[in-house]
Amino acid sequence: MSEAPDALALTTRAGLPPGFLYLREEFPRDRWTAKLDETAAFWLQMHASFRGHQAHMDGLVSQWRANGDAAALHRQLIPALQSFLQHLDGHHRVESGQYFPMMRQIEPKIGAGIDLLDRDHDAIHETLEALFQGGLAFHQAVNAKATDVADKAHRLSDLIDGNARPLLRHLEDEEDIVIPLIQLRGLHG
Ligand SMILES: [Fe+2]
Ligand SMILES: [Fe+2]
Repeated sequence: MSEAPDALALTTRAGLPPGFLYLREEFPRDRWTAKLDETAAFWLQMHASFRGHQAHMDGLVSQWRANGDAAALHRQLIPALQSFLQHLDGHHRVESGQYFPMMRQIEPKIGAGIDLLDRDHDAIHETLEALFQGGLAFHQAVNAKATDVADKAHRLSDLIDGNARPLLRHLEDEEDIVIPLIQLRGLHG
């Protein structure tokens, strides 16, 4: 896939290209509410929880930027970040390892769309790794009562800010493929 890769990069794209949206056209978002397939509904629930996690961390960062209380940031953000990293990593493993291969078989036509989602996971994984390192550095600086606690807090906060947009983009684009696919084709053929 060498065709205009930048246009589809997670950090810059504004949504899926039209060629990947035929499933959503057949089963549009305004019909995703009632009587949704159980797996599809669970998928949306998981995504809602990641949006909630990100919003919670965004809120903690804003509070800290307003009050400068690094101890409070540490106490609240580190456990929130740990839980976020663990859950999102687990979610991506199940998607890329189990669901996506199944979906490629069920709907070969969306293969390039699944490739895109897999590439998103790789990109997000790098950010999660950076968040983990940033969280650890902040945690260690606080524990050591180091002089650069504020620096580490700034760095971690910037990473959390930077994670929001690509994460939300990925969740939405993935839903546009996965939810109609599950609903229209079923997961077991
Ligand atoms: Fe995903
Ligand atoms: Fe997902």
